[in-house]
Amino acid sequence: MRSEEPLAGSSINSANNKSANHDEPVDSPAFTARPVAAEEIPDQAAPTTLSTAQDVPVERPLQVDTGVFDELTRQRAQEIIARYPQPRSALLPLLHLVQSVEGYVSQAGISFAAELLELTTAEVSTVATFYTMFKRRPAGEHLVSVCTNTLCAALGGDEIYAGLCKKLGVGHEETAGRPGSSGSITVEHAECLAACDLAPVLQVNYEFYDNQTPESAVALVEALQRGERPAPTRGAPLTDWRHTELQLAGFFGEPQELRDAVDGPSAAPETLAGNRLAEEKGWTAPAMPGNPPPLPAVADKK
Ligand code: FES
Repeated sequence: MRSEEPLAGSSINSANNKSANHDEPVDSPAFTARPVAAEEIPDQAAPTTLSTAQDVPVERPLQVDTGVFDELTRQRAQEIIARYPQPRSALLPLLHLVQSVEGYVSQAGISFAAELLELTTAEVSTVATFYTMFKRRPAGEHLVSVCTNTLCAALGGDEIYAGLCKKLGVGHEETAGRPGSSGSITVEHAECLAACDLAPVLQVNYEFYDNQTPESAVALVEALQRGERPAPTRGAPLTDWRHTELQLAGFFGEPQELRDAVDGPSAAPETLAGNRLAEEKGWTAPAMPGNPPPLPAVADKK
């Protein structure tokens, strides 16, 4: 693992990292689709707090050990919170910070964010389980996201995904190798990655590898398993999943070149072809009206 920025509160061998063996339990609670008859449900007292009211003290009946988040992580959390007028607005980058420590959003991570932002753990959980970028179980050193949306699928994305799953012996959001250890890889299929003009594409830790084939994708994964960091087609240099999560939380560290690369342009020539053609032809879009029309009344929108 490269050390662009120290990752706090964790190590590759952290006991918090769960095995990739999917026969082993993970921290996520078990869910069942079995319908429950009304008479089976015990009487419960009605909630005494409104969980979404910002000025009402929140209840946290569960005490979860958040000791995995060390002092450096807590300092970073406070830096994130200070960016926003309201602490609760810091939730998304705070969850990325949590993932940079544990490789996923654990129950401890949910409690950590809830405590700092004065939210309930239920509120944090609803956000963490809504966005696919937040993982429910520890991810590998690298996250490989294969686009299987319409255009990529038609041009080979389905074959690429199937080939990688077969090669690694895993399925969606499963990890080959011990999560967090060198060479471990989590695979997922993804919706449109906004690079349709370069289809089929995949990402490693959200960096693009364009115009892939089943063979090139397998070669890429084999290089990752050997500990190599093949250069993405465009954009920033490849790092690992947890450092990427730290960057998504807003911490780039040294060297400055890394930050410059992350901030730099990443558009491919294919993506800019229309713009280039318009410049050559002297085409321009109609100007915006000086006085934009008023917004329609809510009733008129229906
Ligand atoms: S369909 Fe794959 S990037 Fe859009």
